[in-house]
Amino acid sequence: MQPWRKYGAVVTEAAHFLPERIVTNADVSQLVDTTDEWILERTGIKERRFLDEDKPTSYMAIHAARSLLDKSGIDPLTIDLVIVATVTPDMVFPATACIVQAAIGAENAWAFDLSAACSGFVYSLVTASQFIHSGAHRRVMVIGADKMSSILDMTDRNTCVLFGDGAGGVILDRCENSSIGLVDFLHRADGSDKSSLNVLGGGSLNPASHESVDQGLHFVRQDGRSVFKFAVSKMAEVSVELLDRNGLTGRDLKLFIPHQANLRIIDAAAERMKLPQEKVLVNIDRFANTTAATIPIALSQAFDEKRFQHEDLLLMTGVGAGLTWGSALFRWGENCG
Ligand SMILES: CC(C)(COP(=O)(O)OP(=O)(O)OC[C@H]1O[C@@H](n2cnc3c(N)ncnc32)[C@H](O)[C@@H]1OP(=O)(O)O)[C@@H](O)C(=O)NCCC(=O)NCCS
Repeated sequence: MQPWRKYGAVVTEAAHFLPERIVTNADVSQLVDTTDEWILERTGIKERRFLDEDKPTSYMAIHAARSLLDKSGIDPLTIDLVIVATVTPDMVFPATACIVQAAIGAENAWAFDLSAACSGFVYSLVTASQFIHSGAHRRVMVIGADKMSSILDMTDRNTCVLFGDGAGGVILDRCENSSIGLVDFLHRADGSDKSSLNVLGGGSLNPASHESVDQGLHFVRQDGRSVFKFAVSKMAEVSVELLDRNGLTGRDLKLFIPHQANLRIIDAAAERMKLPQEKVLVNIDRFANTTAATIPIALSQAFDEKRFQHEDLLLMTGVGAGLTWGSALFRWGENCG
């Protein structure tokens, strides 16, 4: 037992929100030179959801947050902290987390955004857990939300076929039993590679200007091949290392909830852990890569389907821009909070 853990940090509710508008591979192939077969074979994606152009990321985050409150019946005044993981905040500031905090009436909570791209949710979940482990907080809301359609160049087939919009989140509660909830985590970053996946414009390096927009610097750009290689090796490596150091193997897991960037990346990680298909959550076919939202959406779906029970082990692993990657091992707990 790690000395930093006084209390257990337990997920007691999960919820998600997906926009209604379905954009199929056939729809995308009207815009760029691609085909349904190519996208499906190379990525596993069949369709994605796009939010209406006039609605921001907070629209989805607030829906997910309200759904968390409705499903759990908790009083928003009992929330101590709201964290929103996103790379598509409504604006540079204030933080999207503050917009969510106000919308749900979490008047006693402080709030901030966390930027770690596709690792944003696992980074946030582990950050939130520390406040609960230490006894500083009793209840934290963690949301992952991204409106990737707002930063996609719909003329760039290297990126526009891969992403979608969505939001998901959890309520993390204090549990007197410190062996339940977050068991261990392993997070990494390598800031030396800024070029393989980024949005270069709109920050202090390249403030928005006519030139920056003309050059398309406000769009996602990526070197798909190098990101793919990185993700294949890191998703498996960090997952196996975390299991190893806890004396576990894939056999001990009830579910593996990986970031949904490419089905081939997920399959490679599952193979390294010798996980059968039924232990691996995959929804990339319907929602594509929703960045910080992929893991909480998948977790919420599994939660609703009651796919795990008290004391089951879950592994969530994210990989993304930064470069960032990380894995969080949870022992599912009931009767806490
Ligand atoms: C983007 C990705 C799907 C491309 O798949 P790939 O098998 O690596 O394909 P390649 O990049 O080797 O490209 C193969 C060919 O397909 C072409 N191609 C790329 N995108 C295409 C598309 N949407 N439709 C059709 N052809 C496409 C390429 O131009 C290339 O053509 P060429 O051989 O004539 O040069 C894959 O690299 C990937 O998933 N990368 C990681 C992306 C990611 O996860 N990003 C977020 C990180 S969290």
